[in-house]
Amino acid sequence: GAGAPVAQDLAGRRVVVSAGGTREPIDPVRFIGNRSSGRQGVALAQAARERGAHVTLVAANLTVPVPPDVADEVVEVETTAELRDAVRGAAAGADVVVMAAAVADFRPASVPGAKIKKVAGSEPAPIALVENPDVLAELARHRLRDSQVVVGFAAETGDDAGSVLEHGRAKARRKGADLLAVNAVGSGIGFGTSMNDVTLLDGAGGVVAAASGTKREVADAMWDAVVKHALPSTG
Ligand code: CTP
Ligand code: CA
Repeated sequence: GAGAPVAQDLAGRRVVVSAGGTREPIDPVRFIGNRSSGRQGVALAQAARERGAHVTLVAANLTVPVPPDVADEVVEVETTAELRDAVRGAAAGADVVVMAAAVADFRPASVPGAKIKKVAGSEPAPIALVENPDVLAELARHRLRDSQVVVGFAAETGDDAGSVLEHGRAKARRKGADLLAVNAVGSGIGFGTSMNDVTLLDGAGGVVAAASGTKREVADAMWDAVVKHALPSTG
């Protein structure tokens, strides 16, 4: 846009951003999905590109328009298995991987080739689920490249077991990512809106930064934190 030139602090860096939400088929016409629009991931990709990065966007069922200049490459995926393959393929050469996509935790154990029909007078058959691989945890635990920075999100609602931040801290330690952006979801914030509010934690659960505003403003604050706290300098 107009205004001051953007600092090229990601020049020469290769960045992978996953965005949107994965869908797991139940039958040929139905799926298990989530409410992620892809807006925060698109903002992260666009911000990185404007700061000079080479950007691969792995786009899972985005419901927001994708600007034509959002990334150098866009790989469209539907399921978690497809997203995992696309992210890992691109991540092999990447300096930074950001998992902004809402990934389905479970998928139907088997998918019939024909539409499930209702049968008059009988109960519906339960749908058995199996757990999906945790793409972020895999990337964080087994780096595909030396000095690669791995960033995740934690969508949390507080509950009886803890606050949003307490759940976020536990997740930061569990995942092993360099940065985890914790955001409260539900009741009009996070999913489906243009505003966001995140607390950035390091892998030990310590607070590195906080950011709130438009998803673009949050994206820029996240790249600031990546550059300042996680990315080794090129020297
Ligand atoms: N994630 C992933 N693969 C999965 C599930 C999640 O890569 N199978 C990533 C998301 O992209 C996000 C981070 O892990 O960056 C946290 O996702 P979240 O759903 O908040 O955490 P979970 O570990 O799935 O825990 P839960 O849903 O039980 O809170
Ligand atoms: Ca999850």
